[in-house]
Amino acid sequence: MPWPHWIRHRSRQQGLVGLPARPAPTPAPAPGATPALEAPLLQVDGVSIDYRTHERVVRATHRVSFDVHAGDRFVLLGASGCGKSTLLKAVAGFIAPSEGEIRLQGRAVTQPGPDRVVVFQEFDQLPPWKTVRENVAFPLLASRTCGRAEAAERAALYLEKVGLSRFADVHPHQLSGGMKQRVAIARALAMQPQVLLMDEPFAALDALTRRRMQEELLGLWDEFRFTLIFVTHSIEEALVVGNRIAILSPHPGRLRAEINSHAFGLHSLGGSALQATARRIHGLLFEGQDTPSAEPAATPVPGSVEADAAALARGPRPAAGHSALPFRISV
Ligand SMILES: Nc1ncnc2c1ncn2[C@@H]1O[C@H](COP(=O)(O)OP(=O)(O)O)[C@@H](O)[C@H]1O
Ligand SMILES: [Mg+2]
Repeated sequence: MPWPHWIRHRSRQQGLVGLPARPAPTPAPAPGATPALEAPLLQVDGVSIDYRTHERVVRATHRVSFDVHAGDRFVLLGASGCGKSTLLKAVAGFIAPSEGEIRLQGRAVTQPGPDRVVVFQEFDQLPPWKTVRENVAFPLLASRTCGRAEAAERAALYLEKVGLSRFADVHPHQLSGGMKQRVAIARALAMQPQVLLMDEPFAALDALTRRRMQEELLGLWDEFRFTLIFVTHSIEEALVVGNRIAILSPHPGRLRAEINSHAFGLHSLGGSALQATARRIHGLLFEGQDTPSAEPAATPVPGSVEADAAALARGPRPAAGHSALPFRISV
C-alpha cells in the first residue's frame, strides 16, 4: 500500500521528501518571486551515533536528519531503544555524532551550552540540598547567564508560571513527582534557552497528573513560544504536545517519517481524527502497515506505544474512504 500523502517519508537512500511543514501556512509568493524560507533554528543533518563498549560498537541512530524551526514543538516518537534519548543528548552536546552534524543557528554543536536545556524523566534531577527557588536560580548563576538580582527575579517569575510560588522555600523531597517536574520545567524556562529539550518528562507520572502537565506545558508554550524538542513513546502524547512528529524505528534508530500534527491538541482527545491518525502512526511504527493488524499478545505497559496501539485497535474505525486527516504536509 502506498504511503499516505500526509506523510513525508524517506527510503534508505533518499533524503526526506519535501519542505518542512510550518505551524502556520504562509501566503503563496507572487509569481516569479523567490520564496523567503526562514532558516531552521536547529538542523540535525545525517547524524549517526555509536556507543563503543569493550566488546562491540552499538549504532544507536543511523543517518537521522530533521530541521526544527523557531517555535516548533517537535516530537521524537518511537519505541524504547530507537535512539530518542541519544539524539536528544547529542543535540544537548553531551555526545558527539560519529557522522553528520548538528547545527544550532548554523553553528556546529560541539559541547553543552546554556542555549540548550534538558528536562529529564527522573524525579531526582533537582539537587536535594537546594530549595526550589535555589534550584531554579542555580543554572542561571552557574552559567553566568545573569547576576543574582535577575536570577532571583527570573526564579520567582517562572515558579509563579508553574504555580509553585508558595513552595519556593521548600526542598525537593517535600514535593510530589508532578511538582518536581514543574520545578525542572521552571528551571529550564528560566534559562530562556534557544531550544528546550524534554526527555519523556511526564512518563513517570500517574495518568491524571500527566494529562495536567501536558495541558500546563501547552499553556506555557502559548505564553512564551519557546522551541521544544519533546521525546515520548506515547502516540497520543506526541499528537497532543507536538506540532510536528518525527517517527523513529529501532535497531538502529532511523527516521521513518515526519508528520505535521499542529491541528491536534487536548481538544482532539477522544475524537475520530486523532484516533485515525494515531492508528496510522502505529502502522508506521510497526511493520510499515497503515493499521494495526492484531492486538499485542502481551499486556502492554500503560502509556506505552503498545498500550496506545491496543486501545486504538479496540476503538471505532472510520468508514472506508473517510478522510479523517484535517491537515496536509507540504511536499
Ligand atoms: N551508554 C550506552 N552504551 C551502550 N549502548 C547504549 C548506551 N545508551 C544507549 N545505548 C543503546 O543505544 C540504543 C538507543 O538507546 P536510547 O537512545 O536510550 O533509546 P530510547 O531513548 O529511544 O529508548 C539502544 O539500543 C541502547 O541499548
Ligand atoms: Mg530514552
